[in-house]
Amino acid sequence: MVRTRFCDVFGVDHPIVQGGMQWVGTAELVSAVANAGALGFLTALTQPTPEDLAKEIARCREMTDRSFGVNLTILPSINPPPYAEYRDVIVESGIPVVETAGFNPAEHLPTFQGGGVKVLHKCTSVRHAVKAQELGVDGISIDGFECAGHPGEDDIPGLVLIPAAADKVTIPMVASGGFGDARGLVAALALGADGINMGTRFVATREAPVHQNVKQAMVDHSERDTELIFRPLRNTARVASNSVSREVVSILDDGGAFEDVRDLVAGNRGRTRVLEEGDTDGGIWSAGLVQGLIQDIPTVADLVSRIAGGADELINDRLAGLVH
Ligand SMILES: Cc1cc2nc3c(=O)[nH]c(=O)nc-3n(C[C@H](O)[C@H](O)[C@H](O)COP(=O)(O)O)c2cc1C
Repeated sequence: MVRTRFCDVFGVDHPIVQGGMQWVGTAELVSAVANAGALGFLTALTQPTPEDLAKEIARCREMTDRSFGVNLTILPSINPPPYAEYRDVIVESGIPVVETAGFNPAEHLPTFQGGGVKVLHKCTSVRHAVKAQELGVDGISIDGFECAGHPGEDDIPGLVLIPAAADKVTIPMVASGGFGDARGLVAALALGADGINMGTRFVATREAPVHQNVKQAMVDHSERDTELIFRPLRNTARVASNSVSREVVSILDDGGAFEDVRDLVAGNRGRTRVLEEGDTDGGIWSAGLVQGLIQDIPTVADLVSRIAGGADELINDRLAGLVH
């Protein structure tokens, strides 16, 4: 079995992470990931209040006796959620690891560190990874341009971003964006990472709490079926290509402002119409290029063991056989 220092530092069997996912990172998925021996993150802001997060943590604990983490996504906003209260729930609940994403986590680090919570910081550039390492986080998750959600504005794919980061990052680092199978895990290790983080691939599993139509759309989609919305606003997000995301791209490309697309991109619309009701053209939903590698909807346990076991075979059979 492939085992790296990431497993030792973060206390998991496999160097495989399920990153935070708004509306998807609930106890159903995260407990399945934990039970499979990988590292899953509940998504704090999917819970309407910090008290609801505490309840979700308790619910997840009823579904697994293995450890799991919580993702805290910190984004600039006019009416920010009470980040400090969510953070305090994470610490007080005895969660062993937090995935921070979005903004620099400096403000929250002393509380996490004082509470013995390890911090895995997710970012999209080498400079931000180096900065987080200097701040004292325990691990880096580096998201290449292929990823679902926010790839940043540098547009550096993993093939260059991961080794460039590995040259500068000395703490454990997982590679993210475009990973979905054993080949990806082995490639990430070869590029200098200590494991992989996946989002999109985990949505297309039996336990993910989203409508079957969304999972099937990921199977049907190719690697060409994403759109980059909000590019002109310099807040790029990679989402599944559908009539809504294409309309958003067209309005903004024609000089439109955020106000002109606000209703189209409303989070609740994507959540209700797409993820709950299964209308894949009903709103915006995040998905990455790795859709082109998704051919089925396995259980999380099958997916994790397929990736871990497949990596083992790939290294011992194919790669070892190439060395003479
Ligand atoms: C449906 C969905 C929702 C996501 N929501 C968040 C989020 O709230 N916070 C976050 O840090 N990352 C979020 N992400 C990004 C993932 O955690 C992960 O970094 C990304 O999906 C990796 O790229 P991949 O999709 O190619 O595996 C989301 C991804 C997906 C697919």
